[in-house]
Amino acid sequence: MYRYSRLPVSNLSSTSQRSWQLSSPFRSFSATTEIRGRLLTAIRDDHHELGSCYSHIIDNKNADERTRYRNRFVWELARHSVAEEIIVYPAIQEYLKDGQDRSSKDREQHQTIKEQLYRLQGLSADDPDFEPTFRALYSDLQQHVKEEEEHDIPQLEAKLDEVTITQLSKSFERTKHLVPTRSHPLSPQAPPFETVAALLSAPIDKVADIFRKFPKADGPIQ
Ligand SMILES: [Fe+2]
Ligand SMILES: [Fe+2]
Repeated sequence: MYRYSRLPVSNLSSTSQRSWQLSSPFRSFSATTEIRGRLLTAIRDDHHELGSCYSHIIDNKNADERTRYRNRFVWELARHSVAEEIIVYPAIQEYLKDGQDRSSKDREQHQTIKEQLYRLQGLSADDPDFEPTFRALYSDLQQHVKEEEEHDIPQLEAKLDEVTITQLSKSFERTKHLVPTRSHPLSPQAPPFETVAALLSAPIDKVADIFRKFPKADGPIQ
């Protein structure tokens, strides 16, 4: 069973603000229709991927298959959440009129989902609690996803110029790729998070600092 260490939402807000200020300054202009939607597409693709994993687990009663897809779901959701917290929510905070409240609400929803992720990862796939826990997690996730896709991200993109949207989208993808895709032992190419619990319970500014300094062929995150 993983130990759970709660992250105070207030700490997340302040540290993320600092991470954001270390990044390139983003300008606020209108983007063309072609570019607008690029960030939303990247985020929506991840949400669809999580939905596919969920359906596969619910439709498949084989414990081994469920375990493998559960592990994939947990890591996909963990790295998606980290990339949003480091790259996207600070931009919401910066550019939307009620951005402070919205980014705080998004982080609170992430926190609830993280607690459920820890529980899910500690359960065997043939545990009677496995499916109810997974369904409850996914129900909360769906509500959060709906708010991101219908409100937060479209409204953010509407405030930004195309250079900024492109930069945000690239940074979002790059941050995700710096997070290991599963809980394998560390390799010299992976940041120091051996388990999803270690990743999600680390202070978000520490995670951002590690990724920023991490050597990568195409450079640190911006
Ligand atoms: Fe999110
Ligand atoms: Fe999301």
